[in-house]
Amino acid sequence: MFITLEGSEGAGKSTLIEHLKKYFLKKNIEFIFTKEPGATKAGLELRKILLDKDVDLDPVSETFLLLADRLEHVRKIIYPALKENKNVISDRYLDSTYAYQGAGRKMNKHDLDTMIKPLNFPEPDLTIYLDLPVEVGLKRAKERNSLDRFEEEEIGFFKRIRNSYLELAKENSHRIFTIDSTYGETEVFELARDRIEKKINEN
Ligand code: TMP
Repeated sequence: MFITLEGSEGAGKSTLIEHLKKYFLKKNIEFIFTKEPGATKAGLELRKILLDKDVDLDPVSETFLLLADRLEHVRKIIYPALKENKNVISDRYLDSTYAYQGAGRKMNKHDLDTMIKPLNFPEPDLTIYLDLPVEVGLKRAKERNSLDRFEEEEIGFFKRIRNSYLELAKENSHRIFTIDSTYGETEVFELARDRIEKKINEN
């Protein structure tokens, strides 16, 4: 089973992941928790460039770096795990590219598809999208740490990203489950846990 988590800055993905890790460990259900960008050795180097405020990147170059990270991730971590029938949860995946590079950086959807489709990335069985008003998420992110190259973007960038995620959720309702992240962390966790368990039982 391949599950992905999506959401904008400060949406609560990291907190949710901590809850899920503890829960599945206690239940003795094996899950591999992984993330993008930066799950592999090459990916870590790419992540450094991608988040570095002092690096100016054209949106197309940014996309190529993210896709190189994903290709390494899929070939070296995700596919081998799925082949062994292991469960994988990835913090960010393909939807991030359509939301951030497509809507955020205003890259044309057709151009993005042309870059992405030949890579044959597997479709997740389930995607949990944590939705939060942009102002709330950015306030949380700013309180947490110094801002990276994405986080320091203007508010319109994040508004386009949120709208894009909501569109993606509508278009892919068979796969994307949206959780209102203004709920408390326990409620968000319980909603995500129930949806994941339902998916496990279906398979
Ligand atoms: P993180 O803060 O969730 O670890 O992600 C790092 C940043 O990378 C985040 O601001 C979103 C961005 N990103 C994209 O812009 N496109 C992508 O495809 C992915 C995977 C991440």
